[in-house]
Amino acid sequence: MTIISPSILSADFANLERDIKAVETADWLHIDVMDGHFVPNITIGVPVVKSIKKVTKLPLDVHLMIENPEKYVEAFALAGADIITFHFEAVKDVKKIIDLIKSFNIKAGMSIKPKTSPDEVLEYLKYLDLLLVMTVEPGFGGQSFMHDCAQKIPLIKEYAPKDLIIQVDGGINADTARICTELGANSLVAGNYIYNSVNIKSAINSLRSLSAS
Ligand code: DX5
Ligand code: ZN
Repeated sequence: MTIISPSILSADFANLERDIKAVETADWLHIDVMDGHFVPNITIGVPVVKSIKKVTKLPLDVHLMIENPEKYVEAFALAGADIITFHFEAVKDVKKIIDLIKSFNIKAGMSIKPKTSPDEVLEYLKYLDLLLVMTVEPGFGGQSFMHDCAQKIPLIKEYAPKDLIIQVDGGINADTARICTELGANSLVAGNYIYNSVNIKSAINSLRSLSAS
């Protein structure tokens, strides 16, 4: 089964609880944390994650697009994150931050930007619960899917342990989701496609019906 993780970056932040309830039929809730340094945008921080935890049962899939992510792992874990994904490009000691995340008994994810080669991360796959392949430059919702990025998935799948979750994020809609699941992705993040659809439940179902090869 494909894990669907709607990105609340495309929600109405003045009606966040309403927009979180609207995606309750999904599997996870994707929360994009940006610091204005690692990416040129600022979004959500620890207090918001803590409040979100109180209004949903969906596991919180926290995507840290920040510098020095190791400094904030504890705060996000205590705020209620169930999965913490950091960026490979933002850390010096990959194994250390993975161990730190796992010490809170939550899932450890690592993400790679479009220009990062999958070869650079193969040695870490065995320690991870999730590998996120960005299919846009991180920073903003509503960008176009980069086909080249999806082509990294087969190599990752080849070297990954069986239970590694391979997630894609950026420009995902019914068509690009199919491309990614056929290549081996089994978790899909989608912001605009889900939140801008007339029927949110059907949009979630249309993604879920795609199963990983
Ligand atoms: C972008 C974020 C994404 C974003 C995806 O940097 O990591 O999670 O919300 O938005 P869409 O699905 O609209 O491309
Ligand atoms: Zn994201």
